[in-house]
Amino acid sequence: MYTQSFNVPDESGQRTVKPIAHTEPPEQMARFDARIDADGRIEPQDWMPEAYRKTLVRQISQHAHSEIVGMLPEGNWISRAPSLKRKAILIAKVQDEGGHGLYLYSAAETLGTSRDQMLDALHTGKAKYSSIFNYPTLNWADVGVIGWLVDGAAIMNQIPLCRCSYGPYSRAMVRVCKEESFHQRQGYEALLVMMKGNQAQKDMVQDAVNRYWWKCLAMFGPPDADSPNSAQGMRWGIKRISNDDLRQKFIDATVPQAKVLGVTLPDPDLKWNEERGHHDYGQIDWDEFWATVNGNGPCNKERLATRVKAHNDGAWVRDAALAHARKQQQRQLKEAA
Ligand code: 3HC
Repeated sequence: MYTQSFNVPDESGQRTVKPIAHTEPPEQMARFDARIDADGRIEPQDWMPEAYRKTLVRQISQHAHSEIVGMLPEGNWISRAPSLKRKAILIAKVQDEGGHGLYLYSAAETLGTSRDQMLDALHTGKAKYSSIFNYPTLNWADVGVIGWLVDGAAIMNQIPLCRCSYGPYSRAMVRVCKEESFHQRQGYEALLVMMKGNQAQKDMVQDAVNRYWWKCLAMFGPPDADSPNSAQGMRWGIKRISNDDLRQKFIDATVPQAKVLGVTLPDPDLKWNEERGHHDYGQIDWDEFWATVNGNGPCNKERLATRVKAHNDGAWVRDAALAHARKQQQRQLKEAA
């Protein structure tokens, strides 16, 4: 549904951004810039400027944190899914998100940061994760809407990352996007079924759409003019399409889907603009977005506490796995002696 974004040109001005001031060795920097300009890939063993490494660790680890915190709001519904079929789908989906976190932590580790360091930053509240997972899932329709809109927004943002200049991140994103596409479709299908049901079911879907629509638009990040990392991220070929352009693409793709579903998107200003060839839309509440990003959304404290507890409760599993690996290694050494 969103794969057309693979082929969009770099229309957001990636190549026109001025390089930042730096103190890196000029020859190595020139070779790096030339590879970026030629749309080449940077691999872990390649020289890279420290600022590029730092940006990647920041973005990839935030992304990984979003995947594993994203397991929580939906995980809450596994025991309450309305049928065995929906339960099996939801378990598979939540498990996929855990897998995405693992690919992404592995990609970030290739930049010289340990998983323990990244998790510590998440658990102590120093690292960010996606704002969207700090809102509650109040009814079963929320699970469908998370699939349709949250995963739909995530795919729109993540398809261009399959062409990111850092090899391990771009390769991880290919598989993540394929799985996210399944997540989006299962959510939409679950909602289609509910919209063929009784009035109470239809009302639940509309209510979930009303609560999630604006939060999903904010997922793409602040407007381009207020996005401190965008220009450099695009210059380095990490980001390919700007926050505002992705948000617009998501809105344009979602409006016809809402029509088929039979729900109203809660924005009186949403209308087609013939001249622009896009939908116009209303004001996003950026104060609310920043409050949530900075730890004061409705579920931030609960999400973090659940994550820390899961990590602590799993300590014995990690200890046992390490003890087993040590035992295996000793056995191999004994056999080789
Ligand atoms: N939630 C939380 N923080 C956000 C945010 C959001 N929705 N949008 C932006 N921010 C943060 C940025 O991380 C940055 O903070 P920092 O400088 O302290 O790191 C600050 O706001 C300014 O934003 P910028 O636009 O300047 O930052 P970026 O250039 O990094 O762009 C981004 C933000 C578009 C989220 C980009 O980092 C990105 O594409 N990340 C990879 C994808 C990702 O992380 N997606 C999260 C959702 S994944 C998911 O939803 C799981 C799926 O299963 C549904």
